[in-house]
Amino acid sequence: MGMLCPNLRHKTDKRMLERTLVLLKPCTLERALAGEIIGRFERKGLRIAGMKMMQLDDEILDAHYAHLKGKPFFGILKASMMTSPVVAMCLEGVDAVAVVRGITGDTNGRKAAPGTIRGDYCMSNQQNIVHASDSPEAAEAELKRFFCPEEIFDLGDTNLARLYAADEV
Ligand code: TYD
Repeated sequence: MGMLCPNLRHKTDKRMLERTLVLLKPCTLERALAGEIIGRFERKGLRIAGMKMMQLDDEILDAHYAHLKGKPFFGILKASMMTSPVVAMCLEGVDAVAVVRGITGDTNGRKAAPGTIRGDYCMSNQQNIVHASDSPEAAEAELKRFFCPEEIFDLGDTNLARLYAADEV
C-alpha cells in the first residue's frame, strides 16, 4: 500500500483521499431513514470521517444556499431545512465528491435514476433526502462551514487495503 499523505488534501498527490460534505436533510430524519441512508454510503466503501446532528438556522443556510438566493423556492427551501435537525457527515474516499454525487442522483427525486438515493427514496425536487457537495472546491468550503477541524477524524490507513488496490491509495 502507498503511504497515506498526512494532509489528505495535498494537491499534488494524485492518489489522495478526498473529503466531501453530506447533509441528511430534515425530511430524512422525519421519515426515520437516517440509518438506511448512512448505510448506503458505508456499504459503498466511503469512510465516515465526521458526523454530528445540527439544527440549521438562517445564517448558515444563507451561506450554504447563496447560489440560490433570489430563486422563487429559496424561502421554502430554507424553511424545510430548519423543520428538524440535520445529520452532517464528512465522507472520505478516492474521488469521494464525484462518487457521492453519483450515489445521490439528480436533484429531482422524480427524475433521479432508480438505484440512486434520491431515485429510490423520494418523490420531491426539494425534500430530496441529502445534500452532497458538487465539486472539490465546494466540499472544502462546505466542510469548513459545517465542521470544526477537531470534529473531523484522521482514520489512518487500517482498512484502506480492503477498500482499494495497492496502487489506488
Ligand atoms: P441545487 O444545488 O441546484 O441541487 P443539488 O442539491 O442537487 O446540488 O439545489 C439545492 C437544493 O435546492 C436542492 O437539493 C433542492 C432545492 N431546489 C428546489 O427546491 N427546487 C429547484 O428547482 C431546485 C433546482 C433546487
